[in-house]
Amino acid sequence: MSMQAVGDDDRRPPVNEVLEAAQRGLGLRPKRLPSWLFYDERGSELFEQICEQPEYYLTRSEIALLHEHRDDIAATLGPDVRLVEYGSGHALKTRVLLEAMASPVSWVPVEISPEPLRLSVQRMAERFPELPMQPLCADFSRPLRLPIPPRAPRRTVVYFPGSTIGNFDARTAIQLLRKMRGEMGDAGGILVGADLKKDVPRLEAAYNDRAGVTAAFTLNMLTRINRETGSDFELSKFAHRARYNPMAGRIETHIVSLREQQVRLGRQLVKFHEDEAMLVEYSCKYSTEDFAALAGRAGLRVHARWTDPEGLFGLYYLVRGSGIAAT
Ligand code: AVJ
Repeated sequence: MSMQAVGDDDRRPPVNEVLEAAQRGLGLRPKRLPSWLFYDERGSELFEQICEQPEYYLTRSEIALLHEHRDDIAATLGPDVRLVEYGSGHALKTRVLLEAMASPVSWVPVEISPEPLRLSVQRMAERFPELPMQPLCADFSRPLRLPIPPRAPRRTVVYFPGSTIGNFDARTAIQLLRKMRGEMGDAGGILVGADLKKDVPRLEAAYNDRAGVTAAFTLNMLTRINRETGSDFELSKFAHRARYNPMAGRIETHIVSLREQQVRLGRQLVKFHEDEAMLVEYSCKYSTEDFAALAGRAGLRVHARWTDPEGLFGLYYLVRGSGIAAT
């Protein structure tokens, strides 16, 4: 038998990230579980189904917005852009954008899980065989080391679609925007999608679809925790709850315990009261004024903005500076 070099990492005991995250979150008061736990394979499938529900207008509105304004958006970004995308999604939006853009230098999708990243690059290559692609397998909430572009770009644009920024509370969203501001450089920009404030019934319906897909998506988090940590959450004893908090301007999604109960989580026992709620997700909603103020706090200003024909969803192009440009 030959000797194998043992790297530093190999000597550390294997850590169960899911168990650690669940234990940390359920140790807090009120209890919470991090939103990234939604996105195992099943969760990603369910999210795609959410996007097709009649009540979940966000995805359709953002795509309609891109179709409506693609030429103006492309003109605003200008030619020879390096497009760094946070998350690789199913990249339908990115296609519309890239089709309209003049001589993009490269597309840099940043995605934490390797398999979805590989798939989206493969699909994109079929449609844009000439486009240089530089996939980066990384957590976009951490500092990124961007690959060297194949030729000098005129500017770097960070593309962050889907209202994913709404998952972060304001303080964290500002930190993330600041980090993007560093990555894009002086001449760069950020193209970011954010859901708009609107009447509460419409907002709440989007997170409580009649078919129950969002509820299944939420509760799938418990199925995942059970599978990956050997826990024993009983799904019939918990329920999905999504309500708009008007003071905070966000949908808050909770998993509610339907009775007093105890759950085994790894080697711990976690107690729940009847009606006790664990926070699992924020989906922050921004008026155009809210969003300009958020950008301002990150040292950015809104250079341009667009909305879909129904005025449900916002797309913003942010550049360095402060205050609101007259557009
Ligand atoms: C993908 C974060 C934008 O908050 O609307 C959809 C996730 N959660 N339905 C959102 C989600 C419940 C979605 N984002």
